[in-house]
Amino acid sequence: MRDRVSSTIDVDRVPVLGWQRARGRADLRQSRTDRSTVAIDERELRREVAAVYRIVADRPDEDADLEFPTGRGLAARLGYPPAEIGRLPAAAVDSFTGVGYHLDLADLADGDVVLEFGCGSGTDAFVAAARVGDSGRVIGVDPVPEQLANASRCREEAGAANVSLWRATAEALPLEDGTVDVVLSNGTISLSPRPERVFAEASRVLRPGGRLAVSELVGERRLPDRVRTDPALWAAGIGGAVRIDDCADLLETAGFDDVTIRENPWYEFVSDRARGVCQQYGVESVSVRARCRR
Ligand SMILES: C[S@@+](CC[C@H](N)C(=O)[O-])C[C@H]1O[C@@H](n2cnc3c(N)ncnc32)[C@H](O)[C@@H]1O
Repeated sequence: MRDRVSSTIDVDRVPVLGWQRARGRADLRQSRTDRSTVAIDERELRREVAAVYRIVADRPDEDADLEFPTGRGLAARLGYPPAEIGRLPAAAVDSFTGVGYHLDLADLADGDVVLEFGCGSGTDAFVAAARVGDSGRVIGVDPVPEQLANASRCREEAGAANVSLWRATAEALPLEDGTVDVVLSNGTISLSPRPERVFAEASRVLRPGGRLAVSELVGERRLPDRVRTDPALWAAGIGGAVRIDDCADLLETAGFDDVTIRENPWYEFVSDRARGVCQQYGVESVSVRARCRR
């Protein structure tokens, strides 16, 4: 089964599958699970996400004016084991972003094939790669070239030969069915205007009994359209936060069971605006583990 995952795809040669396809369709789309009547401009939101993560890749500093925290301090706050983070290239950890720590929920073992949605700086991918060992491998997908370029340089520095970096989106994975043991995501599903598509892709590529382990933002209440359609709040993962009540339906529909949800009270936004919206609509970070029942 593991042989079916191709091993050497060059970052620069793979087209951005999901985004290219989306561009060919209508610009305005209504694709959220909450069935809001207002369409979102998917293209604009994806553009904003790319612009923000370009800044993240180029080492965010205090002038970057990001809504969310980044870097080594964030990893420590979320509970990443210091020894594992300490072994990684500084350029990866400095550009780390995420909303929780879920690698413990993934139960990674020697030889596992792991896929990460939105590998960004490579921090999660490199920690996972060390845990699955030389007989395992990690595939990180991300649509933002600057993120992939930074992660690629860090991969060389780390000597992480079992990590592949592909330019693609979580909505359209260049992977065959049933070829992956574990799917990871750290704040990427809430950046997608099509979470149902992302969960369906996770289910498709996982082998039966495979695990999904993610940290994501979820909302207690329905978000108003002015929040959902705000590009900056979208790029912060807030606009795309799935309602916690819809999470179970999304997972069930995609073919997952045995669901465990854990709150991440340590995650906090930087900007007052983002914090205010989270407080008002009960947006918080959770880590989720589920099993692919197919
Ligand atoms: C919160 S960051 C996760 C970073 C990563 N875990 C790390 O170790 O640094 C989310 C990442 O998802 C990427 N992204 C945004 N939209 C995406 C999509 N539709 N599919 C896959 N990745 C996406 C962003 O470019 C960004 O690098």
